[in-house]
Amino acid sequence: MPACPPLLAVLDPWWIAILAAAGLWIAISCWVQWGALRAARLGRMAAPACFRAAPGGSPEDVHIAFLGDLQRGVLDVPRTLARVLAETKADLLVSSGDFASHGEGPYYGIALAAFARAGIKTPARVVPGNHDLWPSRNRDDRIGGAEFERVFGARHWALRAGPVLIVGLDDGAPYLVDDQLPWLESTLAEHPGVPWICVCHELPFDLGSPDHAHLPHLDAFAAALRRLKPALVVTGHMHSYHDEVVHGVRCIVNAHGGDVHGLALRREDFELLHVHGRGGELEVERKAYPRQRDGATALDQLAVRFWSGRRKPWGHVLGWPMGALLKLLGRDVPIVRHAVERHVPERDVLVARRREPRP
Ligand SMILES: [Fe+2]
Repeated sequence: MPACPPLLAVLDPWWIAILAAAGLWIAISCWVQWGALRAARLGRMAAPACFRAAPGGSPEDVHIAFLGDLQRGVLDVPRTLARVLAETKADLLVSSGDFASHGEGPYYGIALAAFARAGIKTPARVVPGNHDLWPSRNRDDRIGGAEFERVFGARHWALRAGPVLIVGLDDGAPYLVDDQLPWLESTLAEHPGVPWICVCHELPFDLGSPDHAHLPHLDAFAAALRRLKPALVVTGHMHSYHDEVVHGVRCIVNAHGGDVHGLALRREDFELLHVHGRGGELEVERKAYPRQRDGATALDQLAVRFWSGRRKPWGHVLGWPMGALLKLLGRDVPIVRHAVERHVPERDVLVARRREPRP
């Protein structure tokens, strides 16, 4: 009996190419939908306990570590950060915003999962940065703001840590900070004589101008800082480090907390700003630390990239075969799209849309 010829030998080369392309498409769609499922789980993550823990320290002595814009530095910062916080016995970690890469649940989840895996136990607080509040390619702070509140709580807050009062303000959405100023004044009035540190995302002064002019969109905030004289202002947002006395107020732009440099990955060490409050005095020390990559975080970043990629036509097509199957089984992850806003809308537009229902 003659041997049966192999299937490939009897198929037309065109059919072989079509079958190979179909197999490749299905394999890619499995990866894309795996990414979407993982991203959906990340988007539901709760913050680790450190973000709710009360700060340590004594009434006379406290050590606060400030972390600048983390963003994609989440890949190689948290493991070293956990070690440094434990070794230096920091009482509190404060992020000056842009903690997540974009204001959507899965991006928050990447950072929260990395903090959890790194085993960070030091009590931590965050103020919102523009990246925390805005979804990718969109400028509506209500979307990321709701995520921030779900994960971390209030977008502005005050916390007594040893001999120091730390006040976190939300100027990640700069048009909202004016409404926080009466609260700031009353909060300070409740702590007369206590040195206070202001933490926010964007410094309201223009360090490039000779007279350190107020930034027009943060004018009232800048005037309030000049009047209320914090012992220190710590911010992020800018991409270079500054430590300057501006109108009688010491202002530090803590720039190198992670990786914010677009497609040009920052490979240098990351930095922490250590502030020791002893009695009425503050000692400030800027220190650099080596990065340490985490493979699981790299996988989470890949998953969220797939999840986000499905919003684009090519991502939707690549993910279709497994997506259709998951939809039939009722297990698909819906594609969430936000309106594309390449520029920040005018202040009046932003204020008006806060009165509308959230998308
Ligand atoms: Fe920023």
